[in-house]
Order: sequence, then C-alpha cells, then structure tokens
Amino acid sequence: MGSKRYTVTAALPYANGPIHIGHLAGAYVPADIFSRYLRLCDHDVAFICGSDEHGAAIPIRAKKDGISPKEVIDKYHLLIKKSFSEFGISFDNYSRTSSKIHHQTAQEFFKDLNSKNIFLEKESEQLYDEAENQFLADRYVVGECPKCGFKEAYGDQCESCGSSLNPTELINPKSKLSGNKPVFKKTKHWFLPLNNFESFLKKWFLVENKDKWKTNVFGQVKSWINEGLKPRAITRDLDWGIPVPLDDADNKVLYVWFDAPIGYISATKEWALSKNKNWEPYWKDDKTQLIHFIGKDNIVFHCIIFPSILKATNEYILPENVPANEFLNLEGRKISTSKNWAIWLHEYLVDFPYMQDPLRYTLTSNAPENKDNDFTWKDFQAKNNNELVAIFGNFVNRVVVLTHKYYDGNSPEFSEINDSDKEILREIYSFPKIIGDLIENYKFRDAVNTVIDLARTGNKYLADEEPWKLIKTEKSERVKTIMNISLQICAILGLVCEPFMPSTSEKLKNILNIGTISWNDVSLENPINLKKINKAELIFRKIEDEEIERQLQKLNEGK
Ligand code: 2FM
Ligand code: ZN
Repeated sequence: MGSKRYTVTAALPYANGPIHIGHLAGAYVPADIFSRYLRLCDHDVAFICGSDEHGAAIPIRAKKDGISPKEVIDKYHLLIKKSFSEFGISFDNYSRTSSKIHHQTAQEFFKDLNSKNIFLEKESEQLYDEAENQFLADRYVVGECPKCGFKEAYGDQCESCGSSLNPTELINPKSKLSGNKPVFKKTKHWFLPLNNFESFLKKWFLVENKDKWKTNVFGQVKSWINEGLKPRAITRDLDWGIPVPLDDADNKVLYVWFDAPIGYISATKEWALSKNKNWEPYWKDDKTQLIHFIGKDNIVFHCIIFPSILKATNEYILPENVPANEFLNLEGRKISTSKNWAIWLHEYLVDFPYMQDPLRYTLTSNAPENKDNDFTWKDFQAKNNNELVAIFGNFVNRVVVLTHKYYDGNSPEFSEINDSDKEILREIYSFPKIIGDLIENYKFRDAVNTVIDLARTGNKYLADEEPWKLIKTEKSERVKTIMNISLQICAILGLVCEPFMPSTSEKLKNILNIGTISWNDVSLENPINLKKINKAELIFRKIEDEEIERQLQKLNEGK
C-alpha cells in the first residue's frame, strides 16, 4: 500500500471549561487511534485540533466567573492543551482560534465568499434584551425546543434532540443575561443560503456517501436535508469574536460556527509553517482524505454547513467521512458540566498517575459508536483488572519471566515446528490486518477487543503447550519453539496496541528490546525476530476497590 495523505481533525473544544470523558470518548480518543494507526502504516498525517475561543459560551463563562473573556480562554486553553498532551493525544498541532493566523484565515474566507456573492444580506427581527442592551443569539437565550419540547434548549441548538434552531423559533424564550423575556428588534446580518446548496448536498451526501458513512450520521443528515434547508445567519451582534471584515459591518462578528471549522485550516497552516511544509495539499488536493471526528451534537455543522462553505470556495476538498459518535453517560446519568456530573481529564490524571491507557482502553472498548453508552467506575475497574491485568499483562509477564528463567533472556532459536505451531503462526500474523481493517472502518471497539483476543490466544497457547512441564522432560527442545512463538505474539501485541494504548506499547517494546515497527511490515513471510530481551516490568496494575469507592464518593458529593 502506497503512502496516502490524511487530514484528520478532532472537534475544537470550547475554551470555557475542562475536558471530560464524554469529550474523550466522542472525538479525541477515536481520532487519536485513527491518526496513530495511519502513522504506523507510514501515511502522511496532519492531526489537527485547537481551542474554540469564540461564541457566546466564552463571555457567559467570564461573566459567571467575574473575569474577562480573554482570561477565560487563556486559562482553559492551557489546561486543555496540557491534559490532552499528558493523556497521549498525539495532535500534530493543537492551536487556538484567538490566534492571528486564524483571524486572518476566517476573514479571508468570509471576504472570498462575499465577493463570489454566496451570502444573502438581510434585515430581520431578532431577540433583544432591553435591560442589557444586547441581541440574544445562540447561548444567550434559552427556551422550549419547538421540535421535542425540551425546556432548556439554546438559541442555536437543542442539546436534547440535536435539532439546530434559530433563537426566534424557541417557545417562551428567556434571556440568559437578565432572565427577562426578550423583545424583537431589527438588525442586519449575512446569511449562508443553505437552500442554494440543497442539490449539491443531495448528490454529494445522499448519493455518493450513502454506503460509506455510519448509519447514525447518515440518518440524521438525510432527515435534515429532506426537511428542507433554510438560510442561516453567519454573523452576530456580539462584542466577542472575529470582526466581520467589511466597512459596513457595524461591529458585527462572525458566527462561531462559521469561524470554528475554518480553525482546522488555520491550525494546519500554522503547523505547516513550523515544519516548512506547504499546507495546501492537506486541504486542496483531491487525493487527500479529510476526516472529521466529532460528537453527535456537531453533525449538522460538519456534514451540512461546513461542506457547503468548502464547496462554495471551489478550491477545497470535502470530508471523506465524519465518523461521529453518540453520547457517553456516566453512572446512568447524562454528563453535566453545570451539575458537576463528570469525570474531568485533568483530575483523572492526578488521581491515576501513569494510568492513561486503562482509561483510553475502557473508553474505546465501551465507546458510544452506534448508540449512547454508559461509563461506570466499576466497569472501568473490571476492564482494567480482568482484561488488561489478567489477560494482557499476565500473558506478557509469563512469557518474559519464562524466557529469563529458561534462556537467560535470549529469544531461543528453534529447529522444529509442528502443525499446531504453523496454525498459531498463521493466526497471530492475521491480527494486524484484521485490526487495521476495523480501524479503517471506524470500528474501534471491535478493534481493541481484537487486541485482547490476541493476548487471549497467547494465554491459551501457553496453557495448551505447558512449557513449564516440558522443560523438565526430554522434550525440553520443544520449549524453544513455544517460547519463540510466544515472544512473537508479545511483539505483535506491542505493535497492535500502540494506537489504543501508546504508553503500554512503549513499555512492551522496551521490554522486548525492539524499536518502531511498521504495521504493514509484519507478516507471516516477514516474522518478527527478537534477540535479547530486558527484564519484566509491570505494564498494568490492579485497581483496588477503595480507589473506586473514592471516585464514586467524589462524584456523588459533586466535588
Ligand atoms: O461543540 C463544541 O464543543 C464546539 N466547540 C465544536 C467545534 S468543532 C469545529 F468545527 F471547530
Ligand atoms: Zn429538541
């Protein structure tokens, strides 16, 4: 397989709060698995993300905390960036939308589309808070969702049913600033007439993407397109955001959902600049595969609005896929920032030092890929203790200890091989391809469960062959074959667990004394030959009941 170019993006998190496990399971862990896998296949990858620092969410947070919006974004940008990096999310660039390069890029996009007469400019009646002298867009207003009746829907989106809304559609709207009922007031805005993109979207999405996309994503987008698309305002009357780059713009700013996805492009530019590369092929060469990893609440923006913007430029490629995940619940309840019902990444990293991989593993093996799913602390403990420690760790440990005991740490050469050995070799060398195919099809749960199956296969091989009995008999020569094959299983595990559990892979490769292996170089014809291995070290540790009790208590106390 030749090397291909991939631009992989993960949703830009709002810099108004820390990252929790719902975010990780929705976008960042799958995007990281995918990007790490592509790199191991020697593809050219730009894995891009950054903080989303505009939109009403930021000044609302600032007001609540009694600090300035700039202080909010600086605080959370640094916190988010640091915790992603400690968690092993391998972004090529984690940028931010307050950067100069992003402001310029977003403004150029607007000017370009404006000069191509893509936008509609029109006056309309919008919600206005008379006490605060402010228009109420997006999150500045809440009310009843006209689609599902949820009482706390935002002006731009209902978080309960996922519908995208206009503030004027809300039933009984209330200002988030004063609590008052807003009045209507006239104001001018620029609109993206999505209705003009309907035939493009129908062809591109409903026909060309039909069998490629996940059913949860395809179904949502199809129903939106079929309901009929309306023009959407892409500017706002706000004093926080990127100024609309026109002389008659009266202090208006770009709508956050106009500028944020362009953030993927500015972050790619910033990265390319630092590497002395050309950014353009990553966004304009139609041989590049553009993949957006997001949570389900972002589907409309990545499958309808942003592709329409990209299409309108006549220069940019469209996403190859948007493998959005559903939501992760926590202990049977919806994760909620305001109720502090969440597991915060930066706190997890303090409470469970050096234990990034068990969380990455649990979030993947239980990922909300096709339906909402639940994270429980007990399940996390069980997955760690019964799968990582008892199956994976136990197998590696037995093989390493026995190799030291019998052969002083040297991988034994063998002369004889029987049918069952041949069978096991065929089986173990099929794993990289099976796991790779699952990853390429965004089936990360099945993929990581297959990694554990490989360790299970190893354990069964040892249990069936019983080298500890043979070593004491005249058949001790056979033990060389068994240990050699077992070491090969360990090495394949070291490779295939890398996308999911990078620190574990690192530790395992250190023990086995091997460097980076390329995914496609490992095959039955090209087996892995180990030499002298290092001493065993603990790759997973058991999680005790008290640790889980403490976390449950912390969660229930809201601390
Ligand atoms: O939902 C969110 O958290 C948004 N900040 C995601 C933005 S994704 C993108 F387009 F930048
Ligand atoms: Zn709703």
